Amino acid sequence: MRESNVIIVGSGIAALQLAVQLPRHLNVIVITKSRMKESNSSLAQGGIAAAIGSKDNPCFHYADTLEAGRNINNKMTVRHVTSKAPKIIQELTEFRCRFDRENNNKIQLGKEGAHSHSRIIHGGGDQTGAAIIECLVKRMGPNIHVLEEECVYELLINREGRCFGVNTFGKNSELHTFVAPHVVLATGGCGQLYRFTSNSRLATGEGIALAYWAGAKIKDMEFIQFHPTLLFNEGQAHGLISEAVRGEGARLVDEGGKYLMDGIHPLRDLAPRHIVAQAIYHKLHEGKSIYLDVRPVSNFEKRFPAVSELCRKNQLYERIPVAPGCHFLMGGIETDLEGKTSIAGLYAIGEAACTGLHGANRLASNSLLEALVFGKRLAQYIGNQKTVIKFNTSQAPKVKTAWEISSLSLPKIKDIQFQMMQNVGIVRTGASLRQQLEWIDSFELKKWVNIDFANLTEKQWQIISMLQVCYLITRGALDRTESRGGHYRSDFPLESEKWLDKRITHLRIERRKSYEQSKA
Ligand code: SIN
Repeated sequence: MRESNVIIVGSGIAALQLAVQLPRHLNVIVITKSRMKESNSSLAQGGIAAAIGSKDNPCFHYADTLEAGRNINNKMTVRHVTSKAPKIIQELTEFRCRFDRENNNKIQLGKEGAHSHSRIIHGGGDQTGAAIIECLVKRMGPNIHVLEEECVYELLINREGRCFGVNTFGKNSELHTFVAPHVVLATGGCGQLYRFTSNSRLATGEGIALAYWAGAKIKDMEFIQFHPTLLFNEGQAHGLISEAVRGEGARLVDEGGKYLMDGIHPLRDLAPRHIVAQAIYHKLHEGKSIYLDVRPVSNFEKRFPAVSELCRKNQLYERIPVAPGCHFLMGGIETDLEGKTSIAGLYAIGEAACTGLHGANRLASNSLLEALVFGKRLAQYIGNQKTVIKFNTSQAPKVKTAWEISSLSLPKIKDIQFQMMQNVGIVRTGASLRQQLEWIDSFELKKWVNIDFANLTEKQWQIISMLQVCYLITRGALDRTESRGGHYRSDFPLESEKWLDKRITHLRIERRKSYEQSKA
């Protein structure tokens, strides 16, 4: 067993921002299931939204965020984050983050969908995530210990209902326990639940399953953002083509070269993402192809090195075939403005969290911003805590079950991805959602969740956690009988007034058996 002051699960931008902002006297362990620089954040092409232009103001950024989120955002969170954005950029600049600049050395400001002003700050053209990570990694002090290839499979909760640590699968199937008074889930989103996604292979949503199993409140899971333009070649999605490419003039066209978005929305190619994604989806559904014509973009290769490389690898030039795919989860583990969850000692930041910033749909480039603002804010909160927690390791779950463990009754990951894309994707119906719930139920998820995870392989555990998150998304999508933002139901195609004040939260009353037994 290893003790520290703070455990951070995940190594993306939210995790690293928190780690470097925590006071140096705190001993911090960052646990990642992969390698530190392999997080989903490192793929982020889009930038950070901040109202720093001469004609811009955080109040315009605030209004754009609410409009994209279809007005169910937490207004206090939106105000806080949009007003902190300029300061966040200034701080990163002081720490020499490589932001793109104009010839006069001013920070370059790009335009993305549904933003009323040019306010997107990029690094390395379309490699913003990697540029920020590089900057944060350079700032990591000796108080931060990174453990790679260590997969958290269980949160430890004591008799008072406080989270005090995690259990992990380590290398060579070893089991480890880590304890700390503050445990932070910064595990990212869940794009890998879908067949087409812009997300890295690591975005499997396990932080949400861990929190749910431990009894934390989970919220807004039905709101998934589908990005309109993933490069689509030979029936597969191969990566993101940033919206910034459309911001620089690229247009969506059909096979005959006709502009797709004309007549659909006044903002045309830069309309809110769900509108562009649905327009493409309907054409693909009719068996047609849609392309992104990048010829209008000047200096395409220089401005978008990562996207150009992706196109080159697929031998696609000028007109790039595209399809929408899962990009971002607006919901997640419910938190307050500090990042606290409904369980004492447990926090969530980044995409795993539901802070209320995004509402029903995220405004482009607000997610890196959210990760940076909340990472810093939580560091200040934890830094101000004086509580000393005494660990009583006998409180750790010790259950061994005689469960007969076999993989046979679990689905393959690619079946999960196919089913979710088909039934809980861009266009949902009551029938498709019920069908998906039946499919999930057929694997007896509840039984799996109550066994001792220590007896599972990491792969089995991962499938169970993926199924759990699929369940939460599907349940939320079935219960919300309207369409709003990223959640579109063809049987309830309009926004409904009566849903404006209603939110779907998931709370598991019956906690995992191991917790109950540890109380006995
Ligand atoms: C993009 O570059 O299109 C993605 C940026 C984002 O989702 O914020």
